[in-house]
Amino acid sequence: MLKNSKTDKLKKVEKVYSFWGRFPSLYGAQDAITFLGRAKTIRSRAVKKIGLKKGDKALEVACGSGRNFTYLVKDIGKNGFILGFDYSQEMLDAAKQLCERNSWNNIKLVQGDAAQLKITENNFDGVVSVLGISAIPDWEKALNRCYDVLHHAGRLVVCDARLFTGVLKILNPLIRLIYSKFAAWDPSKNIPEKMKEIFGNVEVENLNLDTFFIAISVKK
Ligand SMILES: C[S@@+](CC[C@H](N)C(=O)[O-])C[C@H]1O[C@@H](n2cnc3c(N)ncnc32)[C@H](O)[C@@H]1O
Repeated sequence: MLKNSKTDKLKKVEKVYSFWGRFPSLYGAQDAITFLGRAKTIRSRAVKKIGLKKGDKALEVACGSGRNFTYLVKDIGKNGFILGFDYSQEMLDAAKQLCERNSWNNIKLVQGDAAQLKITENNFDGVVSVLGISAIPDWEKALNRCYDVLHHAGRLVVCDARLFTGVLKILNPLIRLIYSKFAAWDPSKNIPEKMKEIFGNVEVENLNLDTFFIAISVKK
């Protein structure tokens, strides 16, 4: 029963992101709304928190159309390596086009379910996921896989969205409805708490009226 509902959720992910992958510029427009106009600031801040150095190996889980690659490439340089992993082939196709336009030759793109993440290039220096974990049906398993593929002292950084608190929470039912339908978003997941359980530590920074957070865990 539970397995079936996970399969249904993956089918929904496939359907929803097949659309966004075919129209990456529309995805870009909705990105500006989701981040309340601060997408560049928050994305670059999240990537900085991984603490990558030139030549490092980074994994982006649920990389989508590659909107964080520009910040990752800057940090790892030409001799580093990025693995972009996503369930949606259409999102990965958009990511591939972005890589070709920018001549980023050190990015490999792999399709699959992050809960079943089996990667030969293990021992990553850092793992990041932006707006990804909240969309992954079996997100707890996916976080465990992130732990497994990290080097000792490597960091997992998760940047994700939350519902409004305070007076603006009146908007939450509408936001939940729209983002569930069009982004397979599930805000009920307590991602930082699960990261603390797996890694034994987590630091959280809240941003954008607390509608965004960046959570960092270190593999000890
Ligand atoms: C809101 S998008 C975020 C994309 C990108 N990280 C960004 O910052 O724009 C959510 C992404 O999660 C991916 N996703 C959802 N479930 C997944 C799973 N089980 N395994 C891998 N990727 C998944 C979707 O295909 C989609 O590309």
